Amino acid sequence: MKHLGFYIIFLFFLMSCSSKEDDVYTPVAYNLEIPELFADKLIAPIIPADNPLTIEGVALGKKLFSDRILSGNQTQSCAHCHKLQEAFSDSSQFSEGAEGNLGSRNSMPLFNLAWNFEERFAWDGKEFGLENQVIEPIVNPIEMHGDLNEITKRLNGHHSYPDLFQLAFGTSEISGDLVAKAVAQFMRTIISANSKFDKYLLGKASLTAAEENGFNVFMSEEKGDCFHCHGSNNNPLWTDNQFHNNGLDATFTDLGLGAISGDPVDNGKFRSPSLRNLTFTAPYMHDGRFSSIEEVIDHYSEGLKFSESIDPLMKKVNIGGVGLSDQEKADLKAFLLTLTDVEFINNPAFKN
Ligand code: HEC
Ligand code: HEC
Repeated sequence: MKHLGFYIIFLFFLMSCSSKEDDVYTPVAYNLEIPELFADKLIAPIIPADNPLTIEGVALGKKLFSDRILSGNQTQSCAHCHKLQEAFSDSSQFSEGAEGNLGSRNSMPLFNLAWNFEERFAWDGKEFGLENQVIEPIVNPIEMHGDLNEITKRLNGHHSYPDLFQLAFGTSEISGDLVAKAVAQFMRTIISANSKFDKYLLGKASLTAAEENGFNVFMSEEKGDCFHCHGSNNNPLWTDNQFHNNGLDATFTDLGLGAISGDPVDNGKFRSPSLRNLTFTAPYMHDGRFSSIEEVIDHYSEGLKFSESIDPLMKKVNIGGVGLSDQEKADLKAFLLTLTDVEFINNPAFKN
């Protein structure tokens, strides 16, 4: 009997050893700090129940984001086209649009993605959900042209990734799904909310006369009338994340949303980009056709082109646009530059 007791205890000891792998899985919840203005003006960020943020998951996603192991020939990482100093965009990196479209697409900046309540990503909204959007470039033939099986095999054979996935997800068996989850976790922590205009709204900075006048031009339905699509003091994202045809072309090489929905009323519609961080994100528009903010403003002022699907808000298309004076244009630009967030591109949490 004495021996039996010993064996039972020994057996428990062995069992506790074999379940050690599960014990290692004690991820620590990541505390996403919600900026004051976002908390005031916006609903909670989208964090799927099956992919909560953890310190281990975010750290793993950050590592993967700048690792060339994710590309087919191991020459490109996500960071290749999404550089922190360009607000995670890249002035010289383009990719193709949806299948069958000829136009090339300007690399998008990455910030405040957890507040894209539509959850439709890319210029044309072709990807639903951030997890899907982050896996797309890996397999996209003209981005990282990887084969997911190949890449997960590579990660599973790596000297440190299996352990890091174990810490983040409780399994060292790496799948494409878990790669997507880790990178999406990191993406959700990328927040930009410290521009001069943010500080102004919080009473911590004041605007120059030109900046203030520019804001009025932006908000006025008689002048710039920009706020319907690009946010306001009540929408600190500076985008509605909706799809519009803002009068760039009379005919389209890239159908945008139209190629996704198959409905001609959506032809030439693209997602309104956030106007934060324009200082770092040139060139502008889905195809990068404008290299300066002045060119963008001239477009809305007198360069609009009519097409069937043009947004009703482009209401002065018959006279080319909203027709701003030189002073109004300069002031509007001064205001747009107050949405620049220098602290964001210097945030050590995002540096690799
Ligand atoms: C070759 C350049 C390139 C690489 C590499 C690349 N991207 Fe992108 N990224 C783009 C372009 C271009 C777009 C816009 C795509 C479109 O509209 O079709 C984009 C869009 C996105 C978006 C959508 C942002 C939004 O607001 O809708 C996310 C998120 C993203 N990329 C994350 C990643 C991640 C994560 C990786 C690595 C796994 C990656 N990208 C690799 C060029 C690249
Ligand atoms: C009807 C909605 C709508 C209105 C109104 C509107 N925009 Fe836009 N804006 C868009 C869309 C959609 C895009 C992207 C279009 C594309 O790439 O094809 C865009 C793109 C831009 C960009 C380029 C940003 C980037 O990162 O590429 C800037 C800057 C901009 N708009 C500023 C303004 C200003 C200033 C006004 C007012 C004079 C204004 N917009 C009015 C919808 C709108």
